Amino acid sequence: MTIQWFPGHMTRARREIQEKLKLIDVVIELLDARIPVGSRNPMIDEILSGKPRLVVLNKNDLADPKVTAEWIEFFSETKGLDALPIDAATGQGVKEIIPRVKLLNSAKMEAQIRKGIKPRAIRALIVGIPNVGKSTLINHMAGRKIAATGDKPGVTKGQQWIKVGTEMELLDTPGILWPKFEDQAVGYQLAAIGSINEQILYLDEVAFHLIRYLAAYYPNALEDRFGVEELPTLEELEDNTVVVDVMEAIGRKRGALVSGGRVDLDKTSSLILREFRSGKLGRISLEAPKL
Ligand code: G4P
Repeated sequence: MTIQWFPGHMTRARREIQEKLKLIDVVIELLDARIPVGSRNPMIDEILSGKPRLVVLNKNDLADPKVTAEWIEFFSETKGLDALPIDAATGQGVKEIIPRVKLLNSAKMEAQIRKGIKPRAIRALIVGIPNVGKSTLINHMAGRKIAATGDKPGVTKGQQWIKVGTEMELLDTPGILWPKFEDQAVGYQLAAIGSINEQILYLDEVAFHLIRYLAAYYPNALEDRFGVEELPTLEELEDNTVVVDVMEAIGRKRGALVSGGRVDLDKTSSLILREFRSGKLGRISLEAPKL
């Protein structure tokens, strides 16, 4: 996956979404449950300009359920938005999307009924940054494979409506948004979940950040999964050489070695990130709301 967002891409992505907005009633804003704000496009409110919106926190199977509950409260209290946790890969929670979307569209529908217009199926568009699960959700709701995973921004094809039951229609191509790049800490989180190209940031630096974060909030993940004994304190971990020691211990345990018996830090970084992404370290959220 290569994403390089330049101003030209952003303008085009924005224009494409705004074209699609003309066709739809409700937006399904897909976020990663592990970093809901970090995986949120910074200009989303402006781009959607008041369209009713359901926030969907995907990959909830990988996120810390306690933190996800806090996020739902956060979106409701600070943004007035309904947020629904789902796991698009298995379909957990997906059934709840239609009733929530209906609720968001109810005023429009009632107005149509008052005018004597027979309401048609609600038209919805899924939007989100790369890798957040847009194609997976479209495919799940369609009950078949529709969009190629890893769609590239700027690649358009004839648009079609996918019937989801009798009450909703989904645009078959999602709106692709760019992630939030300004903050380097967010960059590391996005790289950890696989939403920005690892080549933009050094793999070992991404792993460094993850290890520091895990040591602070999920020490058991390091101790149980990787057998790290005597985890250094957070203060000690501020020193890069101490993080390297932890990585070397992990690499040695897992046999990620180069000739001469030294630990291969790149391989170790990859395996830590792979296991984090696949949930082998447990359900971990990388960001909690400031309520
Ligand atoms: P996108 O269209 O927004 O770019 O995302 P896409 O659906 O391609 O999903 C990106 C990756 O996230 C895929 O994995 C997909 O299987 C995975 N995914 C989507 N939803 C969920 C979810 O709710 N839970 C979990 N655990 N994973 C999810 P991949 O490794 O890129 O591909 P593959 O292994 O599925 O082939």
